[in-house]
Amino acid sequence: MLNLIQNMAAVFTALFILAGHPMVMAYNIESMPWRNIQLKHAAEGFGYRVIQHSDSSLLVSAPLEQHGVDRRGRVYQCQVSDSSCSPLQINVPPHGVNMSLGLSMSKTETSTKTMVCGPTIPKECEGVTLYGGMCFSIDPLHSGLQEGPVPASLEACKDTDIVFLLDGSGSVAFYQFSAMKTFVKNLIRRLLKPYTLFAFVQYASYTNIHVKFNQFERTRWEYQLDRIYQTGGGTRTAGAIRTVVYVLNED
Ligand SMILES: *[C@@H]1O[C@H](CO)[C@@H](O)[C@H](O)[C@H]1NC(C)=O
Repeated sequence: MLNLIQNMAAVFTALFILAGHPMVMAYNIESMPWRNIQLKHAAEGFGYRVIQHSDSSLLVSAPLEQHGVDRRGRVYQCQVSDSSCSPLQINVPPHGVNMSLGLSMSKTETSTKTMVCGPTIPKECEGVTLYGGMCFSIDPLHSGLQEGPVPASLEACKDTDIVFLLDGSGSVAFYQFSAMKTFVKNLIRRLLKPYTLFAFVQYASYTNIHVKFNQFERTRWEYQLDRIYQTGGGTRTAGAIRTVVYVLNED
């Protein structure tokens, strides 16, 4: 299926070139103000997020740079004038383990401060790893004054409701879909506690919400799962994830 689409894309591209309109659009791009910023050492993910921090400097993140056993992610302050960068000293507390600092970085129009976040702090909770995160705010007007982290501590383990998103598209064979359901069953058996809830969603060309959290039946959930038949069709993953977020946010 995927191959077919790729082949079709190739055909369309070819047609497009053959039928190319003779009109040409031109832009005049001045190269003088360009800056090529490079670090002297390799920093994984460098450039993932770039924020104009002040009139004369940028913040550039390298969220995958491992610079200590439990330290992942670093943010650099780079000078526009000479493209030099130095790591921003952010006081990450000891529990900010492997947080991928700088994976998310933003600034609002109304504030001079930049928010720098690391959202991948792993926490082992009885068989599942939950990911938490924290953010720091940095103010260039007050010589890089930092606030945070927000939140100051990580959430304790608590019962977690889980939604399973099953890929029921045509590229998944019948036996694979069935293996998927077996996997889900085994996982639920391990995680099922008096208050935990589960939801089952299948996606292909369309997303099917089979069982919402409030429809989960503690005594009949295996039957609820058995009853889900593979729909087949395309693979609209993004739409499915959107639907799941909606299911999660329902009461
Ligand atoms: C943090 O990541 C490093 C590199 O992947 C790994 O060796 C280390 O065990 C991780 N630490 C924790 C607590 O997960």
